[in-house]
Amino acid sequence: MRPILDLQNYLPEIRDQYERYPFPVRPPELEATRLIVSEIDHLRKIDHHCFGGRRDFDQPMRILIAGGGTGDALIFLGEQLRGKPTEFVFLDMSEASLCIAQDRAAARDLSNVTWVHGSLLELDPVDVGKFDYINCVGVLHHLSDPAEGLARLESVLAPDGGMGLMLYGKYGRRRVYLIQELLSLLMPEPTGMEEQLAVARGTLSSLIREKVLGGGPGMLELIEDPVASSYLVDTYLHGQDQAFSFSDIDRLLKSCDLQLAGFTNFFDEQGATCALEYDPLLFFSDPEQVARVKQLPFANRAHIAELLGSSTSMHAFYTSRRSAAGATPMEQDLAPFSCTEYGRRAIDGILAQGLSLVPIHLNCGVVKTVDIDDAARSVLRYVDQDISIGEIVQALAADGTPGQATNRVVPLIDLLVNLGLVTLRQKGLARIALQRSTRPWNSAVDLRSFVKMAADAQ
Ligand SMILES: C[S@@+](CC[C@H](N)C(=O)[O-])C[C@H]1O[C@@H](n2cnc3c(N)ncnc32)[C@H](O)[C@@H]1O
Repeated sequence: MRPILDLQNYLPEIRDQYERYPFPVRPPELEATRLIVSEIDHLRKIDHHCFGGRRDFDQPMRILIAGGGTGDALIFLGEQLRGKPTEFVFLDMSEASLCIAQDRAAARDLSNVTWVHGSLLELDPVDVGKFDYINCVGVLHHLSDPAEGLARLESVLAPDGGMGLMLYGKYGRRRVYLIQELLSLLMPEPTGMEEQLAVARGTLSSLIREKVLGGGPGMLELIEDPVASSYLVDTYLHGQDQAFSFSDIDRLLKSCDLQLAGFTNFFDEQGATCALEYDPLLFFSDPEQVARVKQLPFANRAHIAELLGSSTSMHAFYTSRRSAAGATPMEQDLAPFSCTEYGRRAIDGILAQGLSLVPIHLNCGVVKTVDIDDAARSVLRYVDQDISIGEIVQALAADGTPGQATNRVVPLIDLLVNLGLVTLRQKGLARIALQRSTRPWNSAVDLRSFVKMAADAQ
């Protein structure tokens, strides 16, 4: 069954683009051998940021995948919630994309999905009801009015529900816009998509070969692969593509009475931007400047960090109507769990290597050195043990006062959360299994790239 929502309200040329070039390319037959991880949709992250670490996933839950494309978010969430009373609604205006998502779901025997071929701009709670979690990744920036799109999503969000969104980053993506502009100058006359693709392929390949553009052999192979047409169209030849600074996002959320509930990373390793990178104090050490920056509103601070880092090509974040939807380490009954398999490996790596100073290479180029003393090592050992922050503080207070232990434990856990290594969940609640991909998609690394152990760290 594929109900059709009113298909009046959409950009016809963008729909044509996604009918001809569904994105991303996902052959359904590969479901037998790999699980693509949709980073923003790790249940542990959704629980931490949208539900304060207290969501019972055995209770009925409604999830909307808006502009779901070829199905990554649906498949990843569907696998994590297999056997749970979850109802999915998958919506996309591209029938070709929707059919690929359907074939992928069928290959995995995921049947709890209502398929909607339609525009998210027609979403109406009377027709579709309300949702506890909405995923809308890489979609709003392709609408002529992203605020209108977000308002439609907000209209179908349950009162205490949360959303996981991804919007293009203005400064981190500037190289893409440079190439878009270059290609438009090389094609002054309106041309068909096939011709645009040929010009894009030829230009990019020659510039990479001549080392005018970075990218290297991997990028060259990608560009020359015929399967990459969808990637080239989506990245360099898109008919509607708008990027956001964090101040733009702040205005967008405020226009819909939504609050930021937390940042996450969009990529799993290379290019992963973690929440810490929205902190401008990474870039200032002069006390006068630090004091000035600390006084600024949050949106300005995040925007400054984004400007100085210039590496966030995708803003991946959660939003909710509540002002404090996310978990914090100040809540003593929450327990730290590794966020993803990379988080687990990073923690194991730190413990195994016995380093006392761990250099953390952030995507923006800053190296933050973390002091791993005996107390920090103990905290890391408690991760994934279902031991609450209150209990960790008590255990550490044996050698000092609870106040001293709290002052050590809370900032450290906060840092691990902001590095995207740890999430918090109420102690004793049913654990959320750590989701492993059946075959890592693009990762052969042992640790997240931003947690590199430098040999000369000591
Ligand atoms: C870049 S793709 C992202 C797909 C998917 N969310 C992902 O992350 O893999 C954008 C998708 O948004 C869909 N889309 C764009 N505008 C839409 C609208 N108004 N209503 C529904 N879907 C829309 C397109 O058809 C396309 O599949």
